[in-house]
Amino acid sequence: MSSRQTVMQLRGGALRWSPTPISVPLSVPQPAPEAVPDSATVFMVGNSAEMLEVFEQVRRFAACDVPVLITGESGTGKELVARAIHERSRRAAGPYVALNCAAVPPTLIASELFGYEKGSFTGATARKHGHIEHAHGGTLFLDEIGDMPIDLQGLLLRFLQEGEILRVGGRQPVKVDVRVVAATNVRLRDAIAAGKLREDLYYRLNVLSLHLPPLREREGDVEVLAGYFLRQIGQELGRELGGFTPPARAAMLAYPWPGNVRELIATLRRAVVLANGPLVDVADLRLEPQVLAPPPRVAIRQSRPRAMPRPKPGSDAEREAILQALQESAFNMTRTAQLLGVARATLYRMLQRNRIELAQHYLVQPREPENK
Ligand SMILES: Nc1ncnc2c1ncn2[C@@H]1O[C@H](COP(=O)(O)OP(=O)(O)O)[C@@H](O)[C@H]1O
Ligand SMILES: [Mg+2]
Repeated sequence: MSSRQTVMQLRGGALRWSPTPISVPLSVPQPAPEAVPDSATVFMVGNSAEMLEVFEQVRRFAACDVPVLITGESGTGKELVARAIHERSRRAAGPYVALNCAAVPPTLIASELFGYEKGSFTGATARKHGHIEHAHGGTLFLDEIGDMPIDLQGLLLRFLQEGEILRVGGRQPVKVDVRVVAATNVRLRDAIAAGKLREDLYYRLNVLSLHLPPLREREGDVEVLAGYFLRQIGQELGRELGGFTPPARAAMLAYPWPGNVRELIATLRRAVVLANGPLVDVADLRLEPQVLAPPPRVAIRQSRPRAMPRPKPGSDAEREAILQALQESAFNMTRTAQLLGVARATLYRMLQRNRIELAQHYLVQPREPENK
């Protein structure tokens, strides 16, 4: 595979704007290509169909001056995508300002975001500009948006709608021109259902949404990323290695990478330091053994065919199948129903008909069915 395919270069020179207009319900200003400075530095590596799609979305979304919501597990590259969008947008020459809502104490987020006026509270000895004002003419990245305190969400919404803010303790609205890119690693629909996120804010932020799949779902990317980072880290540490031994390669491909790209980078950094030979060996990777080799029960559960021949209702075979599925799923009803290939409601009828009683997810003394 060529490096052109695997590395999305975001430097000014390598830039190509997608000629296809994208259908969003708002005006789509075309950015001036010369607005992207040569200092643009964001590289994203990937060759999976999923990531090629993400790269395409980054190109298209960069050209639209509307909010973007990025979702994905921790370490999948959300912040990198936010930067990539900024660097390819017409705002590239402007500031890029990031605020992690989970990292700032909730009581401080208002003054961090909106700034404050002199004398607005004890200790406010001078006017302070907040992140939104600092991002004027550029992009504001709001990480972990699900952690934004609910009382501030109204203020943020107002800013998104009106393009103006009030500093804490201020009375005069201040006009700001900022594009907001938000990210979350939780399901925001759940946050809305739990009353932690305003639905109207969600819709405002979610004009364009981009999902980063976990690394384990990107076919072929582990190898490409591992090669890329091994070279990069080798240069950085002055220890350039020739690659990976076959067992190391196999282990990396089998490993599920719960911490995604961030974990891969940390693993390789450690491996480069630990490696004795010219290649990284499996021991140098120090992968978590329990994650590397899932217990066989899990493997059996996953590989079990879903559509088994259905035993006769009320037969011993049906009862056996239910008990086995319950055990295999650790008494998870949804999973048990899946294993049996029936709907949950059907499962409950099957339990009744076979007189299998469950109390607090533990099986209590299954009785012999009366009628066979
Ligand atoms: N596709 C990619 N190509 C190159 N580096 C990546 C890629 N995805 C993530 N990274 C790197 O992995 C680390 C974690 O990415 P980050 O954007 O902080 O993830 P998130 O915000 O989703 O937790 C960063 O060092 C980032 O540069
Ligand atoms: Mg992040």
